[in-house]
Amino acid sequence: MSDIDYELPDPSLKSIVTHDSLKWIFVGGKGGVGKTTSSSSISIQLALNNPDKQYLLISTDPAHNLSDAFGEKFNKDARKISGMNNLSCMEIDPTSTLQDLTQSNGDPSDPLQNMMGDITSSIPGIDEALSFMEVIKHIKKSQKKDGESNDIEYDTIIFDTAPTGHTLRFLQLPQTFSKLLAKFDEITSKFGGLLNNLGGGKQDIYAKVTELKELTKLINEQFTDPELTTFVVVCIAEFLSLYESERLIQELNEYGIDVNTIIINQLLFTQNDDPCKRCQSRSKVQNKYLDQMDELYEDFHLVKVPLVNTEVRGLEKLTKFSKFLVNPYIPGNSVDLD
Ligand SMILES: Nc1ncnc2c1ncn2[C@@H]1O[C@H](COP(=O)(O)OP(=O)(O)OP(=O)(O)O)[C@@H](O)[C@H]1O
Ligand SMILES: [Mg+2]
Ligand SMILES: [Zn+2]
Repeated sequence: MSDIDYELPDPSLKSIVTHDSLKWIFVGGKGGVGKTTSSSSISIQLALNNPDKQYLLISTDPAHNLSDAFGEKFNKDARKISGMNNLSCMEIDPTSTLQDLTQSNGDPSDPLQNMMGDITSSIPGIDEALSFMEVIKHIKKSQKKDGESNDIEYDTIIFDTAPTGHTLRFLQLPQTFSKLLAKFDEITSKFGGLLNNLGGGKQDIYAKVTELKELTKLINEQFTDPELTTFVVVCIAEFLSLYESERLIQELNEYGIDVNTIIINQLLFTQNDDPCKRCQSRSKVQNKYLDQMDELYEDFHLVKVPLVNTEVRGLEKLTKFSKFLVNPYIPGNSVDLD
């Protein structure tokens, strides 16, 4: 290969927005860096660029991020965003799912229920994992096309993940479930006879565990296929954020999950003739980290996004903001969303 053939990856999200086969897009990073803004913007760009496809944006953060970003209420049943006919949102509270599994027949004195409670509380990350299960169950159900459900069939699902620590836990989902299933098998074989005498909760739990097994398999197959799944990292140009992003990327590599795009958000792009000392010096720090990233991640799509002059809330502002993800911002251009 000659030098002339060599090209840096496009510094935008175009390759994701125009990708044909991606089924799962995860957006993650440290708290407050712009995950919700970015995942919403990616979803909007996908929806606008592919009007024949249906998209679903999901948040599993109990903080109701998406409702705040779009300024309308979403819940665990997917609903289209007002003003878009091919983008839906859904917000899921992880804790309610865990209760659903451990309190299947509503009787707190049921020994089987207590046992499930003990099993689940002994496995770290199970709540986050179960919430993802719930989501995938929802999606699978809606894609069964059995005539009974008039839900939409989604082409791509975008996840606005909770801050980094949780994200990493969710990546351990298949392992987490393997542990749960192993414990369940162990206990049911030990107490098989005894369990037969238990109440109606048992069938329920068996059915749920079987479902978990099937879903674990599906996830194992799909999340490690780069044609189907990719992860977008969001960060800001500061030491801690970069450090966490690198850790996240290494973890993703370990799990075999594709990652080739980093959004570097809230950049000042201060011009040399800017009279403001504070912006000058902050911008200098940002530039230092930008240089490091250019070097460290030269085979990544590095999407450099400006700090804009207002909060990015509501469909209109998000749509304007989302253009920075596909058409790289040119320093000096307007950062006005109004
Ligand atoms: N480039 C930007 N310019 C100006 N404001 C921004 C930019 N990106 C994000 N914001 C604003 O910063 C705040 C935090 O962004 P956002 O909610 O997307 O972060 P987050 O990573 O999802 O946070 P959390 O970890 O709390 O979920 C929001 O008010 C958002 O409007
Ligand atoms: Mg958020
Ligand atoms: Zn300033």
